Amino acid sequence: MERRCAGLLNDVAARLRDGEEVDFHRGFSEALTIATVGDFVGVPEEDRARLVTSAYAALRAAPEASSETLALADEHSKKIDSYLVHLISQRKAEPRDDLTSFFARMLDDGIEEISEDEVIATLWILWVGGFHNASASISHGIRHLLSDRGLRRWMTDDVSVSSFVNETLRYNPALLITPLLRIAVRDVDLGEGIMLRSGSGVRVVIGAANRDPEMFTAPDIFDPTRDNRGVLSFGLGPNFCPGASLARLQMATALRQVVNRFPGLAVAAEPTWSPLLFNHQPLTLPVVLREESDMAVIA
Ligand code: HEM
Repeated sequence: MERRCAGLLNDVAARLRDGEEVDFHRGFSEALTIATVGDFVGVPEEDRARLVTSAYAALRAAPEASSETLALADEHSKKIDSYLVHLISQRKAEPRDDLTSFFARMLDDGIEEISEDEVIATLWILWVGGFHNASASISHGIRHLLSDRGLRRWMTDDVSVSSFVNETLRYNPALLITPLLRIAVRDVDLGEGIMLRSGSGVRVVIGAANRDPEMFTAPDIFDPTRDNRGVLSFGLGPNFCPGASLARLQMATALRQVVNRFPGLAVAAEPTWSPLLFNHQPLTLPVVLREESDMAVIA
């Protein structure tokens, strides 16, 4: 992870040195998480860009979407499905050290009870969940660090970095609302006159839960010193995010390297934001380097 971050920062360093405004979301946060999950799942580099395009189109399938957007989302969702079918058959023929090969072997062995549809669904959510939310979270962290220079002191040691990462996840959860709909299997009395009827659909509004004043004192203040137990950014229970540790590792490594390497990095313009209802995600993060001398030299 350290090497990968340093390599990506080398690429943007040259452009920043030339006085260019760089989109750090696309050029760094997203590039990092796409490369990480791409290697992990086993998507070859040359296929990643079109799978990212398809993922963004598919994710626009939300309740408020127009019929054209929904049709496009369907089309791209099918593209991802057929790409994964092709990848699985390739890995059956020529296994490699990646997750798709692991699942392909499970399907071939027939030892575990898992169907090809289940493997496709799992790879789908790993691919999309793997880069989308993690890149947003890295960019949220960078925005905090650039908006208040005093916060950079949190990048000095592992414990402080981890507190900063946790508070970024609480304050700016990449997923504002749980995408998977739960169905109540019995009536549940939530108190205060609220009765959840059996059969009704339930979503958790993570963004609101993370700012619940009964859980977090002064919840609208970004404070890495706070006790962050109770944060719901990675969900809870059986569907708790399996990528939570990987996401935390990426955030910690990325944020620390960005601050150490570019002390003079500054926001050049407000980000543009994703229109998706369920996500709090920058689509761009324009930055510039204030002075070239501000750039630490890394061997
Ligand atoms: C900061 C980054 C991330 C955030 C905020 C995040 C958030 C979440 C949340 C809230 C859920 C639960 C959804 C629900 O209960 O309905 C979830 C599930 C999931 N996430 Fe993440 N995630 C992140 C990174 C990742 C990464 C890096 C991966 C893969 C490498 C990943 C893979 C998954 C998968 C496969 C599920 C579905 C688990 C299941 O249904 O059992 N996520 N994520």
